[in-house]
Amino acid sequence: MRDDLNSYLMQNYRRQDFCPSRGKGCWLYDREKNKYLDGLSGIAVNTLGHSHKKLVKAISGQARNLIHVSNLYEIQSQEQLAKRLARLTGLDKAFFCNSGLEANEAALKIARKFGLEQGIKKPKIIVFENAFHGRSFATMSASSGKKNKSMFGDAISGFIRVPINDLKAIQSVEAKYSNIAAVMLEPIQGEGGINISKNIVLKQIRKLCTSNNWLLIFDEVQCGVGRTGKWFAFQKAGIKPDILTLAKGLGSGVPIGALLVKKPYAKILGPGDHGSTFGGNPLAMQAGLTTLEVIDEEKLLKNAKDRGEQILKSLRSELKGYPDILSVRGIGLMIGIEFKTDCSKISKLALENGLLINVTNSNVIRILPPLIITDKEVEMLISKLITSIKTFLKNE
Ligand SMILES: Cc1ncc(COP(=O)(O)O)c(C=O)c1O
Repeated sequence: MRDDLNSYLMQNYRRQDFCPSRGKGCWLYDREKNKYLDGLSGIAVNTLGHSHKKLVKAISGQARNLIHVSNLYEIQSQEQLAKRLARLTGLDKAFFCNSGLEANEAALKIARKFGLEQGIKKPKIIVFENAFHGRSFATMSASSGKKNKSMFGDAISGFIRVPINDLKAIQSVEAKYSNIAAVMLEPIQGEGGINISKNIVLKQIRKLCTSNNWLLIFDEVQCGVGRTGKWFAFQKAGIKPDILTLAKGLGSGVPIGALLVKKPYAKILGPGDHGSTFGGNPLAMQAGLTTLEVIDEEKLLKNAKDRGEQILKSLRSELKGYPDILSVRGIGLMIGIEFKTDCSKISKLALENGLLINVTNSNVIRILPPLIITDKEVEMLISKLITSIKTFLKNE
């Protein structure tokens, strides 16, 4: 890997010494043709694995026909994908962009404007500890993590932070403030360490939002689009947010972001209030439509659920009795193993064993394989991972 002196790239990523040159299914290959099992999917992106035939055909066909036209013109595939997402989510209208932070930025703009339209002078948004919503100024301010924020000067104000699964904390905010416009949360926190919101708490938050006229925004950028074994994580709690943001897995590798909203709030952003040059381009729309089609055709929701249970069961039995491991948790193919202390070194050890995973929040191994992973591949994943964990624990 090139060091700073020999690279034209800015050094803003901590990269592993690995250069994949080809991918097929759940596997990546380097230039020496070594094979690696992808247990991370480009951080929850490659829903259909690598080089899925149907996706390749759809996007190459689209590229031959039309890649980009401006949002100044009608793009029929936007209507198709919006309709499909509306049917799946039970929400009504869509806005398309290119990434998770952009979808969240749009959600935050809607929340603030909604508050102002209610006559709230300085609308505030309730957010959560360990949340991650992106790296723009607004989404970074909505996210947890003091270190990143302070190095860029003043954050955007207007966020009130509470712990997850702590209804009392939200109730005390409710009692103290009269200028809340929205609550924004990840039903399962990804970057924060696979922290799962309890269904019962989500239901209570829904009730609080409805009774106070606060918008409920779910950021499903990482946990949405089938990863949990349901189309969307909110469906597990049997409630519906007012706004839902998606990205990562929706395009199976082609950049895309989406915001879905209930009809009454769709008019908050009118012509010229918000937009994106690339958002909703025909290539991305084709990737989104094909991803959803294949999830259906190949019954990937069921596979995510079954393979997820297989991973959890194996990990829990293999890792029982290790005092350094605090918890093995997850839903579907979004799984975390929490260590007592920093376990970042495990990603490198796993790579040496031909497995891609990562460590988030410094002490949680994160497993996010493609939704197409088979039971045999899960067995290989477990074997490689357990070997890496044991080596790590022996060397500590
Ligand atoms: C829950 C969540 N929201 C937002 C983002 C930001 O997405 P992007 O990197 O596409 O801007 C991420 C990225 O990890 C995420 O996990």
